[in-house]
Amino acid sequence: MTSTVITNIGELVTNDPDADDLLGLVPDAALVVEGSTVAWVGSAAEAPAADQQVDAGGRAVIPGFVDSHSHLVFAGDRAAEFAARMAGEPYAAGGIRTTVAATRSATDEQLTSQVARLVGEMRRQGTTTVEIKSGYGLSVHDEARSLAVARQFTEETTYLGAHVVPEGTTPEEYVALVTGPMLEACAPHARWIDAFCETGAFDADQSRTVLEAGIAAGLRGRLHANQLGPGPGVRLACELGLTAVDHCTYLTDDDVAALTGSGTIATLLPGVEFSTRQPYPDARLLLDAGVRVALASDCNPGSCFTSSMALCVALAVREMRMTPPEAVYAATAGGAAALDRDDVGVLTPGRQADLVLLDAPTHVHLAYRPGVPLVSAVWIAGRPV
Ligand code: NIG
Ligand code: FE
Repeated sequence: MTSTVITNIGELVTNDPDADDLLGLVPDAALVVEGSTVAWVGSAAEAPAADQQVDAGGRAVIPGFVDSHSHLVFAGDRAAEFAARMAGEPYAAGGIRTTVAATRSATDEQLTSQVARLVGEMRRQGTTTVEIKSGYGLSVHDEARSLAVARQFTEETTYLGAHVVPEGTTPEEYVALVTGPMLEACAPHARWIDAFCETGAFDADQSRTVLEAGIAAGLRGRLHANQLGPGPGVRLACELGLTAVDHCTYLTDDDVAALTGSGTIATLLPGVEFSTRQPYPDARLLLDAGVRVALASDCNPGSCFTSSMALCVALAVREMRMTPPEAVYAATAGGAAALDRDDVGVLTPGRQADLVLLDAPTHVHLAYRPGVPLVSAVWIAGRPV
């Protein structure tokens, strides 16, 4: 097995859970990769010999971003809807149906090349693990093929048949379809079950029915909740012990208390608030209450069409009062926790060697230099990509 030492790292973010600081920072560091995993990390002066050597030139190295929430399987464009929003129109869940029509009309090849393009775009910006949802098919055939397309790119696929109720069916009929024949067709291609628990989408009872059916079929649960207004979704996610509850924009004290007492990760998606002009979620309140937080892009054609985790970090720091270490941790180790993964998001011996070299001396530049393409190299499973 070939070993490579990356040396002359100005600052290494390990996210080592045993370190004294959140990011497990190592100054003047080196990291040894053996095969697909990290074999050693420490001070460059003490680095062991390896078959190959890479000079990081004083750059910072961070774990690859773990983007635990995206909707990449779609066709069409909603730039006009975005422009209307910027001219004062509110965001509404119903816009999803526009993308459903375009997605159903697309061929498998068109959907596959769209996902390939967006996954490539993410990778160039430092994302090394991505979760991809269905949710723009809303028929047995179109949901199953959306997940089959997503599976070509990631193991982290999520069945979101319960995105909205499609035209021509009642909510009762549709929930029966989502929990019956559609679940049967989709479960083999999915690791996760999700629902959009929101006014205009699914209520708490319907979301519970969908989640329980998915969990009974062997999927793990996550939920879209409290995005457009206060609601029961966050408490439902905590009650059901879901791995993650995503958005969390409108929270009451009871929601925060439920999250604090649960193992459920709150995934914050600040690109959505940026792109819909909604208030940002109160990350400071959540962190101070001891809630575990992840940051993700939510890349989708409606509420937020960014694939940039660096933008999410910058927004979280500037607009949500997260410190730079908290934001970088939430976008890496936090995302891994939101996907129930302990092999990524951390750079310690035995973990997957997914890492990003930044054209910057420290992780702080991700927020300090917003909008600047700082990713100079990306490694996945021990290889530059
Ligand atoms: O996460 N909240 C529901 N789904 C997406 C938006 C989908 C759309 O507008 O097309 C989201 O924001
Ligand atoms: Fe989403």
